[in-house]
Amino acid sequence: MPNIVLLAGDGIGPEIMAEAARVLDRVNVQFSLGLNTEHCLIGGAAIDATGEPLPDETLAKAKLSDAVLLGAVGGPKWDALPMDKRPEKGLLKIRAGMDLFANLRPALLYPELASASTLKEEVVSGLDLLIVRELIGGIYFGEPRGIEGELGQRVGFNTDRYSEPEIERIGRIAFDAAMARNKKLCSVDKANVLEVTVLWREVMERLSHDYPDVELSHMYVDNAAMQLVRAPKQFDVMVTGNLFGDILSDAAAMLTGSIGMLPSASLNSDKQGLYEPCHGSAPDIAGQDLANPLATILSVSMMLLHSLNAPKAAASIETAVKQVLASGLRTQDIATGASGEQIVGCRAMGEAVLKALN
Ligand code: IPM
Ligand code: MG
Repeated sequence: MPNIVLLAGDGIGPEIMAEAARVLDRVNVQFSLGLNTEHCLIGGAAIDATGEPLPDETLAKAKLSDAVLLGAVGGPKWDALPMDKRPEKGLLKIRAGMDLFANLRPALLYPELASASTLKEEVVSGLDLLIVRELIGGIYFGEPRGIEGELGQRVGFNTDRYSEPEIERIGRIAFDAAMARNKKLCSVDKANVLEVTVLWREVMERLSHDYPDVELSHMYVDNAAMQLVRAPKQFDVMVTGNLFGDILSDAAAMLTGSIGMLPSASLNSDKQGLYEPCHGSAPDIAGQDLANPLATILSVSMMLLHSLNAPKAAASIETAVKQVLASGLRTQDIATGASGEQIVGCRAMGEAVLKALN
């Protein structure tokens, strides 16, 4: 019996998780998936209860699970804590603890939301790109790191490092993803300045011999940021390291009109995964029934597809979301003021998806 760990987290986390969990329960019954779910603590909620952003129990259960669904972590309440005790550390630790090296962040523009983007409609309409971000290496985790020295003279430092096997395994994920899509892969680096990415580029080149059908290109990260807002439809799959992927995926998310629409998957080599919306905990709107649950609901769909081998259930959720958007329902973040739109809260949006699943 597949086990799913649910981590609601902080801010809007509990609200969006409640809606996603209802959707999961529904498809569980509809498609006889036999899934078991269990809630565990992470982030600020875990700090308040146990003093730790990732309690051992949560990591242990996550490791034994088939998949983890996460809401969001963090908030002003915990901002003053030392780096190692912050809610975000819980997220980084569970990623590393489960060996989730492959982060898939699709940026897909729903036709109904084309006018919600801050970019011109013709620049973004039809946008469908995938960012493959290395998630447990690079400067996020590289040693040595720290702040040292005497007050006034201190030095802060981090280390950006990738080994050839680390680059190769994320490269293969990206080439495979490109093979399943439009066979175009753009590897993003800063090989004009950083040795770590000179090696990155070399390994991607080497790998490309195993994927003769994929057209591989390379782009410096500054140019990639520019190209993403200039002409994003030139991209199919992008692959990059942890820090560049963090930055570019936020930019890509906004092309679609709202970061509130975008799911993500973080996978290890056993296809065990952690699924979460790309947005954060949005403390400013928490507890007010204003959050958009669709990114988390779509994360459930990715989970069914990538970790639970239930493509039909996954597709049914995507169809339901499209149907709800087509009917004109909008949470405030994706509203454009166009006629035919009806602004609803988090709960009602979840309810509408459930209805569309029938
Ligand atoms: C993300 C977030 C995280 C990251 C933070 C919350 C640690 O920005 O998932 O993109 O930097 O990876
Ligand atoms: Mg980020």
